[in-house]
Amino acid sequence: EVETKFQVLNEQFSLQYDRNPIESIKSRLKSTDSLIRKIRRKQVPLTVEAIEQNITDIAGVRVVCSFPEDIYLLADCLLQQDDITLIEKKDYIEEPKPSGYRSLHLIVEVPIFLQDEKRNMKVEVQLRTIAMDFWASLEHQLRYKKNIPEDQAEELGRELVECSDISAALDFRMQDIRKRLARAELENEPQPTELQRRMGARLREQPVLTALETNLQNLKEKNLGRAGRLRGRQTGTDQETESGRKDT
Ligand code: GTP
Ligand code: MG
Repeated sequence: EVETKFQVLNEQFSLQYDRNPIESIKSRLKSTDSLIRKIRRKQVPLTVEAIEQNITDIAGVRVVCSFPEDIYLLADCLLQQDDITLIEKKDYIEEPKPSGYRSLHLIVEVPIFLQDEKRNMKVEVQLRTIAMDFWASLEHQLRYKKNIPEDQAEELGRELVECSDISAALDFRMQDIRKRLARAELENEPQPTELQRRMGARLREQPVLTALETNLQNLKEKNLGRAGRLRGRQTGTDQETESGRKDT
């Protein structure tokens, strides 16, 4: 359901801004294995209520965008929706994890409808850029490889932190370029050159043009008069009034 919401948002944005902010969306349910591990680790009582209360990432949606500011734009739009309640927000872009992990996490509550029953479900939404996603998948490998010697893992970890900083800097530079590109396109919309402008001004002073303009003005007034009369008498067919209006 949350994935559908994002797909709709993406459509709206592509109409409004002429570009798709979302690169990809993935939904996933936590595997039973990792759910059990987490229940044990967090010592959650084995009841549906306790699990739903304490484990907020059973359902997850990952939204990948091109630019950092799209993340906040999409998050705001999602949270503005009436049926979405924000439970928790963790901004690992403002404050990256010590590992170098960057993403915006939202735990939200959404109503789901089962037969006649309406229930609220918590969903973990991770919003990140393509670069952040690329980084996270590489770092994830280091995290879950078991047979790497301590000293090598440490060295790789340090390098990953460095890569995360470089990658973030690149994200913001690319975003800046995109903004400048958009601005430049607006500012350089074809405008008459100085020569064209002056020729236009001189042409407008020509007697022929003034005469033409007067004629046009007369025609307009005549037509207005005709249309007005037709409307006043209310006898004109639609077509007549229509053509009268078109000429004005
Ligand atoms: P868990 O980490 O799942 O126990 O819960 P938490 O409450 O600490 O949530 P957290 O905000 O740390 O984010 C959980 C999810 O974010 C993880 O399941 C990962 O998908 C992702 N994540 C968090 N930190 C890292 C990280 O350092 N590296 C990578 N690759 N992913 C991370
Ligand atoms: Mg964690």
